[in-house]
Amino acid sequence: MQTIPSPAGAPPRDRTDAALLEVDNLTMEYEVDGGNVSAVSNVSFALHAGESLGLVGESGCGKTSVAMSLLRLQADNARFREGEIRLNGEDLLPLSEAEMRTHRWKDISMVFQGAMNAWNPVQRVGAQILEAINLHIKPRPTAAEARKRMEDLFNLVGVDPKMLDRYPHEFSGGMRQRAIIAMALSCDPQIIIADEPTTALDVIVQDQILAQLLRIQKELGMAIIYISHDIAVIAEVTQKIAVMYAGRIVEIGPTEEVFANPRHPYGYLLLHSAPSITGPRRRLAPLKGEPPNLLNPPTGCRFHPRCPFATEKCVVESPPLQEVSPGHSVECWHWDKVPSMAEEGHA
Ligand SMILES: Nc1ncnc2c1ncn2[C@@H]1O[C@H](COP(=O)(O)OP(=O)(O)O)[C@@H](O)[C@H]1O
Ligand SMILES: [Mg+2]
Repeated sequence: MQTIPSPAGAPPRDRTDAALLEVDNLTMEYEVDGGNVSAVSNVSFALHAGESLGLVGESGCGKTSVAMSLLRLQADNARFREGEIRLNGEDLLPLSEAEMRTHRWKDISMVFQGAMNAWNPVQRVGAQILEAINLHIKPRPTAAEARKRMEDLFNLVGVDPKMLDRYPHEFSGGMRQRAIIAMALSCDPQIIIADEPTTALDVIVQDQILAQLLRIQKELGMAIIYISHDIAVIAEVTQKIAVMYAGRIVEIGPTEEVFANPRHPYGYLLLHSAPSITGPRRRLAPLKGEPPNLLNPPTGCRFHPRCPFATEKCVVESPPLQEVSPGHSVECWHWDKVPSMAEEGHA
């Protein structure tokens, strides 16, 4: 039950060290009345086979915009200004919609924010998953093969396979979300993007689904981009973390390292305002103010209006991304002034 076979005819998975996905200087704006919303600004990161990357930041910082861009499912008013999104070395941005369709589901799949409410209410859940399988797996599996695959997937995500023959309203919220995860896995993707996959669920169901997603990801060896505004969730499920602020990745590095030693003031304050990770003894240094309006983002460093370390230079000049320790990079002029967690007495 645990091993989901590769779809018939699929080439063997490449599990080498080369990055599966490389996002390079991605810059995307939304055209609106009155200007452009700078939603994704010079975003770069790499994702290797089997790796888990967390994308974290306050609501409105551009996480979903990045996710939608990776799948080229961005809104109609979105405009790519710069950058590349390379999947196995191939840039996805210039691809036609038809070419892009050959990558969705099969190579990169996604559990959308709020997807559990996207089931068609008048069609059995199994029939909806079958549609995806028949569209994307080539050659098309026989009815018996497809059924077997769907039953394996339901077992994998912890839903009774009998539910395949039921309608969405007969599922609980948690089950609907598990079924969405099964559907996202149905074409054996190399990468799965999970955008706030448990946010709408109660805490216990959230924990169960997270644990399961983590187990499945390890078992199947796929890479995952896990998106959440909740840094505690990210800490649990990822090896690498990218902290987004106002459309930019301001800090990126190994999760453990970033948690132990955040070097961006925003990363630091975000960690400090998460009592669920740090425990009740931590002195809270609340993040003050509001995220900026991306129709007119702040000059220089976009975090400067809220930053306790900001100087005149920060108002004028945007800081470059600097590597501060192996694999740990930060966009901040004053990263060396950020106190260590240990100095604060929290180590
Ligand atoms: N289609 C759109 N048109 C204009 N602005 C948008 C559109 N979609 C998102 N935005 C804006 O882009 C910014 C980033 O949004 P989003 O990617 O949804 O952030 P997050 O997922 O981190 O909450 C926000 O300021 C949001 O209001
Ligand atoms: Mg979002």
